[in-house]
Amino acid sequence: MCGIIGYVGKRDGLSILLKGLERLEYRGYDSSGIAILQNKTIKYVKKAGKVEELKSSLKQSPLMGKVGIAHTRWATHGEPNDINSHPHLDITGKIALVHNGIIENYQDLKKILYEENINCVSDTDSEVLVQLISLIYNKSNKLSFQDSVRAALKEVVGAYGIVVICSDFPEMVISARMGSPLVLGLGDDEYFIASDASPIIEHTRDVIYLDDGEMAVVNDNKYYISNINSKKIISKVVDSIDLSIQEIEKGEFSHFMLKEIFDQKHSITDTMRGRLNFKDGTTFLGGIIDQIESIKSASRIYITACGTSWHAGLIGKHLIEYYARIPVHVEYASEFRYRNAIIDNDTVLLAISQSGETADTLAAIKKGKNKGALVLGICNVVGSSISRVTDAGIYTHAGPEIGVASTKAFTAQVTVLIMLALKLGRKMGIAKTKGKKIIQSLNKISKDVAYILNSYEDIKKVAEKTSKAENFLYLGRGINFPVALEGALKLKEISYIHAEGYPAAEMKHGPIALIDEKMPVVILAPHDNTFLKILSNIQEVKSRKGIIITITDRPNSELTNLSDYVLIVPKTHQHVFPITSSIILQILAFELALLKGCNVDKPRNLAKSVTVE
Ligand code: M6R
Repeated sequence: MCGIIGYVGKRDGLSILLKGLERLEYRGYDSSGIAILQNKTIKYVKKAGKVEELKSSLKQSPLMGKVGIAHTRWATHGEPNDINSHPHLDITGKIALVHNGIIENYQDLKKILYEENINCVSDTDSEVLVQLISLIYNKSNKLSFQDSVRAALKEVVGAYGIVVICSDFPEMVISARMGSPLVLGLGDDEYFIASDASPIIEHTRDVIYLDDGEMAVVNDNKYYISNINSKKIISKVVDSIDLSIQEIEKGEFSHFMLKEIFDQKHSITDTMRGRLNFKDGTTFLGGIIDQIESIKSASRIYITACGTSWHAGLIGKHLIEYYARIPVHVEYASEFRYRNAIIDNDTVLLAISQSGETADTLAAIKKGKNKGALVLGICNVVGSSISRVTDAGIYTHAGPEIGVASTKAFTAQVTVLIMLALKLGRKMGIAKTKGKKIIQSLNKISKDVAYILNSYEDIKKVAEKTSKAENFLYLGRGINFPVALEGALKLKEISYIHAEGYPAAEMKHGPIALIDEKMPVVILAPHDNTFLKILSNIQEVKSRKGIIITITDRPNSELTNLSDYVLIVPKTHQHVFPITSSIILQILAFELALLKGCNVDKPRNLAKSVTVE
């Protein structure tokens, strides 16, 4: 969480940093701040609230300079107020720092500072670090500023991505990474350092991704990267970012989430591009081509992820076990990282993450690696930490997802999992015809998505009719149970309406007690082998006067009679239905959130990328 950015160059730093903050705001938006070196002194403005608030304050007291740092916050330690906002300054006012991560031993460090008569002014863990750097720098006349930063970082337990400036070195910006992402952008006589590439791409395409334990020092229009502890210089590859500005802007849409829902007309096809083999009823997944035999012979696969990606993982379990008959366990990364799971050399750990930066998922990967598992990733963000620490992986290629609620990344993840399961299944001997069948459905998915988007008004009407409800229940069976979970999560996170996803048959073991005439129940009812069972579940809801919203794949008079609302997706393969039906659930959640006046792209308390534990 939190977005950080630094700039050093020849241009007006303020506008570059402010634009950068807007691009990074999806990472956290409870407060923000900016510090600029102005006539060799550090000037700063920081404000609780969104970047917009900071911009208004800066209109009254603008900052001018060509070197600066900025931060948009998702609070961990200390409430979101002006004082706790970053940048934090040391007691001399000569050093400023922005931080993304958590300094776990900040209380111990605070004690050391206290003994030196240094009192922190904020409640944050981050301020401790700038005061410690300052203490070391001012106390030791032997250490350079860079080495003082190194010395302070050696004392830190926890995760950080930091950018630091010091008024004694008006051309210098120092950044360092341990657990929180940082990208260095190399422009013409200018440098950018940010939590991700989005604020950099309009200035340069050349970037270096810092790895854990690395420090980048930019000074006098030169840079070097070194190991924080050993000081050894590290030679890094300069990557070129392949991302257009349009992809990270809303364009004609009112919200990023809406844009991303509509993007699915082409994003799912982008995920599959060059990967479907129609002739042989299989798929081609270049990223894991050398790992297929190891996966095939694995004794078990663990899928690990968080949130929406975990829901995709549950669908993946269903698919891999169905096609490839390899046992799959799906685990929340936050649980997996701390439990004594059975992991050995025959284990495959498959991590799924849109951002590729989720702290718990990264920790789960580390655990899998240490215990000898083959670690694979399914990631959306190219060059992200997860994509770099896994042994191999498959990119989802859904394009940048900026709305906090995951939409197109989810459908892309499920698409990759279908392709992976099919690949393994064909290798394990399932019939070509079986493979061809699902490929046929995948091949027409753009049309199916277009059909669903054309029925937008029908979905919106359902939202209008149910917008007063305080609770929603989502039901699905088999592969559609995770879709129910995902529908409920979407609604909760952006509309703050309480919602629960349940396997439809489990309803009678408890949740049925909640059903009355005020409770909308969204039921996934494709015409697959669960259909008759689902019909019985719908009857059960009907008998208790629940408001029935059915999502199915063809008109059915019995469903129409039982349901208050029926929403239809085009007929498709039973394993593709989770993709198309989830788009209806995304639209329903979006419209309900709008009706409630919620900030859909920046829901309260959330951030897009959860880089803290
Ligand atoms: O980037 P990741 O896929 O690792 O993120 C995992 C979750 O934080 C994420 O899916 C979250 O649940 C979304 N807000 C859901 O819409």
